Amino acid sequence: MSYLITETAFWGHSSKWTNWRNYVPRHQRVFTQRELAQHDGSNPGLPLLLAIEGDVYDVSSGWGFYGPGSSYNQFAGRDASRAFGTNCLSRSDHLTHDTRGLNSNELAGIKGWHKYFDNHQQYVKIGVVKLDPIDPAAPIPPPCEDAKPRPK
Ligand code: HEM
Repeated sequence: MSYLITETAFWGHSSKWTNWRNYVPRHQRVFTQRELAQHDGSNPGLPLLLAIEGDVYDVSSGWGFYGPGSSYNQFAGRDASRAFGTNCLSRSDHLTHDTRGLNSNELAGIKGWHKYFDNHQQYVKIGVVKLDPIDPAAPIPPPCEDAKPRPK
């Protein structure tokens, strides 16, 4: 009945639980950063992947967001958790999993995006990335001047 009226199986509600892909038991792959980097869309034969807080998601269905030349291609093929928190897409020192020095708002922003990918109807978690430890002696990336606030 729901299908007849809303053309969806769950009366228009969608969540990761309404995506059959999430019921397929999936071997969770462990990527190195170098392997993950192959999946930035530059090779159209490979799935498009991004990572956040070490979890790797297949975002191939979001090629228009994350593919080469798209607005959010910076997130593809890497764990750029910091940029998810600071909204800084323009600086390569923010495209890192180094979250040292972020305030609680910024950290909450990362968690929010992590949840977004986790609950997404199309994107599927396919593994984790083994992240290089951050050298505690390395300087903390300075704040981003031209961070673009995200529209609500
Ligand atoms: C001027 C600032 C910005 C504008 C006007 C903007 C606008 C948008 C719009 C219209 C979408 C498409 C939403 C949809 O179709 O559901 C989108 C998606 C997205 N935005 Fe932004 N955005 C801005 C800044 C940012 C920043 C700073 C970030 C960094 C965290 C960001 C992260 C994303 C991501 C990850 C998506 C894709 C979501 C997905 O995969 O479904 N945006 N943005």
